Amino acid sequence: MFDGFLISSTNTTLTMRAIKRALAALFHTLIVFMCALSYSATTQAQSATMSDDELRKRATSSVGTIPSSMPDSKADTPALITLGESLYFETALSVNRTQSCNSCHNILDGGQGVDNLKTSPGALGENGRRNAPTTWNAGFQFAQNWDAGASSLSDQAGRPILDKKEMAMPSEAEAVARLQPDYQEAFKRAFPDAAEPLTFENITKALAAFQRTLITQDRFDRFLNGDNNALTALEKKGFVQLQKNGCLSCHSGPLMGGQFVMKLGVVVPYPNTEDKGFAEVTGRKDHNFLFKVPMLRNVANTAPYFHDGDGKTLEEAVFLTGWHQFGKKLSDEEVESISAFLRSLNNEKRFTPSDKNNLNES
Ligand code: HEC
Ligand code: HEC
Repeated sequence: MFDGFLISSTNTTLTMRAIKRALAALFHTLIVFMCALSYSATTQAQSATMSDDELRKRATSSVGTIPSSMPDSKADTPALITLGESLYFETALSVNRTQSCNSCHNILDGGQGVDNLKTSPGALGENGRRNAPTTWNAGFQFAQNWDAGASSLSDQAGRPILDKKEMAMPSEAEAVARLQPDYQEAFKRAFPDAAEPLTFENITKALAAFQRTLITQDRFDRFLNGDNNALTALEKKGFVQLQKNGCLSCHSGPLMGGQFVMKLGVVVPYPNTEDKGFAEVTGRKDHNFLFKVPMLRNVANTAPYFHDGDGKTLEEAVFLTGWHQFGKKLSDEEVESISAFLRSLNNEKRFTPSDKNNLNES
């Protein structure tokens, strides 16, 4: 291209200027290229030679281990948690007794709090428009739902019961009536000071208390706690790539997300523009397409991905996030190592139903 320009040009001054400009551009490109090379060489060397201690230091300061208890869980009594557990599996809370929370957020038999569907059919068969996120670790987040529209677990818990595309109960009073008289005693034990223990609000409080017990455990935390063999070399490299690519600036804190909303499509717009996200909560146009940054803990178990469930595999979700958020096409090698690291966040803890409960599962 450079040569071609020289030959075809007849005006010497113009040619000289063009050469200077081209040289300057070439020089600039070279500098950028060399910087990039040396940067990638250093990071490669870093990931190849970085000691486990150094990696642990970095990961501890940028991420840290999952706390052992959830915010607001101090006052949760065993009676309240057990009640919440029963309600989580209670199909009487759906209009035709076909559906419980567990239908879309399965935690039985190693279930990871999701249904692994793009979107979920409600009790009346109609699908909602968003992908069901996991209930594991949900209570660590600053707000609930993709659009951060529910301020807490208890604020969230009442909504699916009444949502026409979820459990579709006609009213709060109807939901309460469904639990009479069987649950009367359990509510009294869970809310000993309440004049009227069985209320809709208390249903949501018990559900929240139970969900505050759903805390994952994974190999990454074992590594952070000192076990060098808890991660493979590829997974360690993947963490370095995740950090190098700036993913942790949004997926921040011990849960690697769940701390604020951010635009999906910072650089390259996301193709699905139907869902306005946070703007639907605030009514502000400048909040269009802001969504809660999802937690990356346990993410490999919760396919499909994104608020609309359009990302089919973890690799696809990783690649697409790099593209939409940075306008960067991550290399196959980066996608592979980042995804490998994300799999080290797989939950190793299992939910075991408490004996007291006669789970009347759908
Ligand atoms: C029909 C399927 C379905 C049922 C039944 C259902 N959910 Fe959900 N749940 C969803 C979907 C879809 C979302 C995402 C909603 C949104 O972002 O607008 C969600 C969101 C949530 C969240 C927020 C998680 C996060 O990371 O933001 C929690 C917590 C939750 N549900 C708990 C419950 C509880 C408790 C029940 C039972 C009372 C329940 N769900 C019943 C599908 C369901
Ligand atoms: C500017 C903030 C930001 C940055 C930087 C960012 N993400 Fe995200 N990420 C988000 C948001 C917001 C979503 C949720 C999008 C939605 O609503 O569907 C998301 C979704 C994801 C998902 C899908 C999770 C799920 O449960 O559906 C994965 C995986 C992911 N990001 C990985 C990454 C990786 C890997 C990087 C670095 C290459 C990265 N992210 C960088 C904000 C960010």
